[in-house]
Amino acid sequence: MTILGIDIGGSGVKGAPVDTARGELLDERFRVPTPQPADVDSVVDAVAEVAAKFDGFDSVGVTFPGVVVDGVTRTAANVHKSWIDAPAARLFSERLGKPVTVLNDADAAGAAEVAFGAGHDQSGLIMMVTLGTGIGTALFLDGVLLPNTELGHLEIDGKDAELIASDRVREAKDLSWEEFASRVSKYLRHVEMLLSPRLFIIGGGVSKKSDKYFPLLEVNTPVVAATLLNNAGIIGAAVSAQQATTGHGQHPGSIPVDATAPGSPVAAAAHTVNSGEAR
Ligand code: BGC
Repeated sequence: MTILGIDIGGSGVKGAPVDTARGELLDERFRVPTPQPADVDSVVDAVAEVAAKFDGFDSVGVTFPGVVVDGVTRTAANVHKSWIDAPAARLFSERLGKPVTVLNDADAAGAAEVAFGAGHDQSGLIMMVTLGTGIGTALFLDGVLLPNTELGHLEIDGKDAELIASDRVREAKDLSWEEFASRVSKYLRHVEMLLSPRLFIIGGGVSKKSDKYFPLLEVNTPVVAATLLNNAGIIGAAVSAQQATTGHGQHPGSIPVDATAPGSPVAAAAHTVNSGEAR
């Protein structure tokens, strides 16, 4: 079975077929710019354009930068408001003619890191934080995902945290690495105070530049960079679709870390709509 993973980001919509047992891309990924405005119709077009580059896939996993419950997108902080309450899984599935699973982007990236990357074999409470256009979060307890945590919207100094410490803000305000590290530290210390995780995994575009600011971070919890970098969302989306399609892992609360085992961290959060059912 071939699964396509597609990651809808703030600046690009990227996809590739994925080896879901190894957590690797099977082909070079294809990217189109995220349409502006990123409304439902134009993003569905962009996803279809990415999917059209690849042949012979059986199902598709798609990440979305907002809350996703049962295949319906519930929030839209950094995309067009037309996504609020949109039946995303059904719309993608109708357009692509394949079963489609949709889940939050940070949940997908975190699930990939927990299964194959920086969080592999780690027990206890682990938090993935993606620093990109916004701040995405995913929480895993012994490999089990608590979906849609949205802790990037915690309030820091009276402001939404993602307006203080996202990579978009770093670029827009041309922050020095010292200033960015100080903002990220403040955010992570706040989360640390609330949740006491064992490990922070930092992903998103800026994870490639971790050497520039990780040494400057002041936080007690160990911090590591995501290892799957830009491909974590694509891989996590595909693993989620694979688990949902094969019926594995649909029992929240009993999901092992190993994405190849029956049940995966992502499947509990995902919802698949078959193209046949969609009409
Ligand atoms: C959204 C999250 C998303 C994050 C990263 C936030 O603004 O609310 O759902 O995971 O951005 O894209």
